[in-house]
Amino acid sequence: MDKLIIEGGSPLYGTVSISGAKNAALPLLAATLLAPGWHTLHNVPDLRDTRTMLKLLEILGARWERSGQTIRINTDQLTGVEAPYDLVKTMRASVLVLGPLLSRSGFARVSLPGGCAIGARPINYHLKGFEKLGVATRLEQGYVEASVTGRLQGGTVYFDTPSVTGTENVLMAAVISEGTTIIKNAAKEPEVGNLIDMLTAMGGAIEGKDTDRLTVHGVGRLQATESVIIPDRIETGTYLIAVAATGGTVTITGCNPAHLPALSEKLALCGVKIEAAENSMTVSCPEINGKNRCSLHSIDITTLPFPGFPTDLQAQFMALMVQGDGVSIIHETIFENRFMHVAELKRMGADITIEGSRAVVRGIGRDKLCGAPVMATDLRASASLVIAGLSASGTTEISRIYHLERGYENMVEKLQGLGAKIRKVRE
Ligand code: EPZ
Repeated sequence: MDKLIIEGGSPLYGTVSISGAKNAALPLLAATLLAPGWHTLHNVPDLRDTRTMLKLLEILGARWERSGQTIRINTDQLTGVEAPYDLVKTMRASVLVLGPLLSRSGFARVSLPGGCAIGARPINYHLKGFEKLGVATRLEQGYVEASVTGRLQGGTVYFDTPSVTGTENVLMAAVISEGTTIIKNAAKEPEVGNLIDMLTAMGGAIEGKDTDRLTVHGVGRLQATESVIIPDRIETGTYLIAVAATGGTVTITGCNPAHLPALSEKLALCGVKIEAAENSMTVSCPEINGKNRCSLHSIDITTLPFPGFPTDLQAQFMALMVQGDGVSIIHETIFENRFMHVAELKRMGADITIEGSRAVVRGIGRDKLCGAPVMATDLRASASLVIAGLSASGTTEISRIYHLERGYENMVEKLQGLGAKIRKVRE
């Protein structure tokens, strides 16, 4: 397996461009199952997870070709309706084929994803939503079988908590149906909006985009279309935090500042300077006593559904608060086990105590983290360790970096372009 070697301590300077959003590419690729013909998707990042989704679509009968960041995909022939366990266990977002397969063929058999490092991650809200649309579901040998006789019927779906992929799955099931579906307490993440734009361009009739109440007027059929994946706001946030952690000045291009309201606010409170333009952000640490690294004011965060602070940036922000000037309380409200990075950060000298769903981070100030061999446990924890390694003195070795490669396109090259001393070696 590969690992990363980082010589920390140097500020980041220059320009970095943001790739398409992983968490938009996955539902939009699944949505191509809703209509036969050639679909075109632009700005599709080349990641472990998007490659997994394309493999799943191939298993279901799709053909595709990639030209740069554009994917053309043909779903004329659907030869399968099953998402196998050995694939779903590597990427739980495979469950996103349930909704489109139900709409397109009235049947789907998808392996239950099982838990992952950050939590149990059930899909009960997805299944309850489908049942409101007339779908019969049953669990059998670790698979969920979903079927509907005739057309899906409109209904009212209420999410106990705003589930992102749950909302996306129900949208893709309801878009081709008889009647009207109301989705209450829907997720408002920008990636859901990107999917709504694609479904609308395909001929769907959906009202309420970017709100927690969606109205879907079922249509008889959809047609293939051309869509653009939005920029990855979590990748953007990861680089913003990395610069705040190491110091320096970086312009991030091809991003959407409006998708990061909470992080921008929190970084400003830490003392980090951010200037936002239409599709770029410049982040810098104002000069302090001759060294280009601002002192970091420790602040509290609570992860919440959009537009609250994203849970997918919690681990990265913790790597920053480790270097703060006081105490930061980090409250994780979305997932029950998303502190796997804490033990690894402590190996580098961080002072963190976990109390239930809260982590108490006692800042040790700038230039106190020490490089060490650490292990990645999940996608965003990996990013947290990269940020800590870039900030630490000495050498940090990060193993199991396949986690990182699920969601960050060319991260090593992008960081090298900013002056980071980071390289990938085969273990
Ligand atoms: C999406 O996961 C993202 N993944 C996650 O990003 C992200 O962390 C999460 O939303 C929250 O923003 C994709 O979009 C592919 P949820 P999802 O359903 O949809 C509970 C990353 O790092 N829940 O919004 O699976 C669930 O356990 C990944 O890129 C149920 O109980 O998350 C969690 O506590 C990690 N039953 C909460 O709801 C359900 O049926 C929110 O989960 C569904 C969810």
